[in-house]
Amino acid sequence: MEDLSLHILDIAQNSIAAEASRIEITIREDIRKDLLSIEITDNGAGLDSDTVSRVTDPFYTTRKTRDVGLGLALFNEAVESSNGNLTIKSQKGKGTKVKATFQFSNIDRRPMGNIGETLLVLIIGNPKISFSFLYQKNSKKFSFDTELIKNSINGHLQSSSENIRFIAGTLNDGLKNLGVSA
Ligand SMILES: Nc1ncnc2c1ncn2[C@@H]1O[C@H](COP(=O)(O)OP(=O)(O)O)[C@@H](O)[C@H]1O
Ligand SMILES: [Mg+2]
Repeated sequence: MEDLSLHILDIAQNSIAAEASRIEITIREDIRKDLLSIEITDNGAGLDSDTVSRVTDPFYTTRKTRDVGLGLALFNEAVESSNGNLTIKSQKGKGTKVKATFQFSNIDRRPMGNIGETLLVLIIGNPKISFSFLYQKNSKKFSFDTELIKNSINGHLQSSSENIRFIAGTLNDGLKNLGVSA
């Protein structure tokens, strides 16, 4: 998996599988610190500490040596190849926070890819889940919260073509203003 946006989609699928009702995605680019960070927080079922240590333990990176999947292991690989760090904080019954950092300028740091499309897929595909998104690029910010836009689309997030266009347009405009390319 090349693009970071696809990892974000994959990690958010864990939150959906954990029956989260709210998922918060935060991306920060800080050129001065040469840092890119990605945070995905949910209020889903959470993991016990034993599982947390296993999904982050590099010893357990293949299907043969563990009975859990590869999503977090692959994300960890993307993080470590660019001099970054992955932390998972979770509390059973409360939720989970996955935070990844990357050295922004690292030659092996994967590209973001089309983050607007990733968000659109998550939002439209999961109308019962509320999503918040913050993209901070140095001193500029773009934020988006499905709870707030519900008002502009008559209280529901049905996937009518009109709503999809509205959400896609809002995301694209916001990201374009930040200078985040697809
Ligand atoms: N946000 C989350 N909330 C609760 N459990 C999680 C979360 N993320 C991961 N997990 C647990 O960790 C396991 C490993 O996740 P992952 O590496 O993405 O592989 P997979 O999703 O294929 O099982 C999941 O099966 C799940 O049990
Ligand atoms: Mg997964």
